[in-house]
Amino acid sequence: MTESTFTPEAAIAHLRARGVVPPDADATARSLGGGVSNHVHQVTWDDDCLVVKRPLPNLAVDDDWPADVDRVHNEAAAIRTYGAVLDDAGVAARVPRVVSETGDPDHVVAIECAPDGAGMWKAELLDGRVDAGVAAVVGEVLGVVHDATATDDAVRERFASKRPFDQLRVDPYHRTTAERNPDVADAIHDEIRRLLDTSRTLVHGDYSPKNVLVDRANGTTPWILDFEVAHWGDPAFDTAFMLNHLYIKSIHNHAQHDAYADAADRFWTAYDAAVGWDIERETVAELAVLMLARVDGKSPVEYVDGTVANALRRVAKRTLRGDAETLAAFAGLAREEAAAL
Ligand SMILES: Nc1ncnc2c1ncn2[C@@H]1O[C@H](COP(=O)(O)OP(=O)(O)O)[C@@H](O)[C@H]1O
Ligand SMILES: [Mg+2]
Repeated sequence: MTESTFTPEAAIAHLRARGVVPPDADATARSLGGGVSNHVHQVTWDDDCLVVKRPLPNLAVDDDWPADVDRVHNEAAAIRTYGAVLDDAGVAARVPRVVSETGDPDHVVAIECAPDGAGMWKAELLDGRVDAGVAAVVGEVLGVVHDATATDDAVRERFASKRPFDQLRVDPYHRTTAERNPDVADAIHDEIRRLLDTSRTLVHGDYSPKNVLVDRANGTTPWILDFEVAHWGDPAFDTAFMLNHLYIKSIHNHAQHDAYADAADRFWTAYDAAVGWDIERETVAELAVLMLARVDGKSPVEYVDGTVANALRRVAKRTLRGDAETLAAFAGLAREEAAAL
């Protein structure tokens, strides 16, 4: 199977060949678009629904990294780990169950669909619908998983490689941003060193509102998705990654600044209550780098204009220069900039 043949129809054929879709069932499939690095298709038949994910093997990787397509198995393993922890902890959130996983040469996983109607949290947030309760659950989920996996040797071994994290996060966000901002490059390089030297727990690696679906059919249940960059590393990367999205929106949609700032606060408070460590200072340092990276890195936020971008740069650089070491101080800088817009 080549990458170009993995159409929605190929996803149905794959599930039929695996005996997941019965031979007599009438199945339909559509592409969910997904990110730039995967084919993601939704296959439905009878009352069943699965999401089928297959990585595109086109990310720039070195020769001795055989396995860009292995990301999908990393993802399946991380989903299982999250699922087991969340089941035990009784948190009001879900990850999809892995229904089938196929190795060489296919490298495909099929996972349970979130309920119809579950929508991307990012879309709600961009519309100005800021549900701080979702932020709190999403913070609790992260804290519970970080805390539980920190003492799990099997998880440490399974997710030991930081290579995908380095290629997909440190390089495009951190190193590129340092090159483009020589005035704060030293502080960014300090943060890169700290990040790569910290190996403490299972890090999601893409913990953003784009990868949270919110099901509001029975109560409010966030579904957490997209684990391909999961690795054993620095928990402050995840806290900072999520807070960065909330603070960027608090400046972009400055008329509703307080709602986003409150959601950020609820996220952090819930996280902090669930873990046995204090990573506030590390979170602030990484948050500053990621905020600058979302303006000057290889993957800038698509919705900010020039004025907002400059405000984000000022918050990030003041923090990198030492004006803010606590989240309260960081929030103060963001509030100042939002008020001036
Ligand atoms: N289990 C699922 N149920 C419903 N929708 C899903 C599911 N998994 C993924 N999606 C949808 O497909 C999109 C892309 O999937 P994702 O795993 O995030 O892939 P990518 O790595 O390409 O971003 C998600 O943003 C979400 O909208
Ligand atoms: Mg995604």
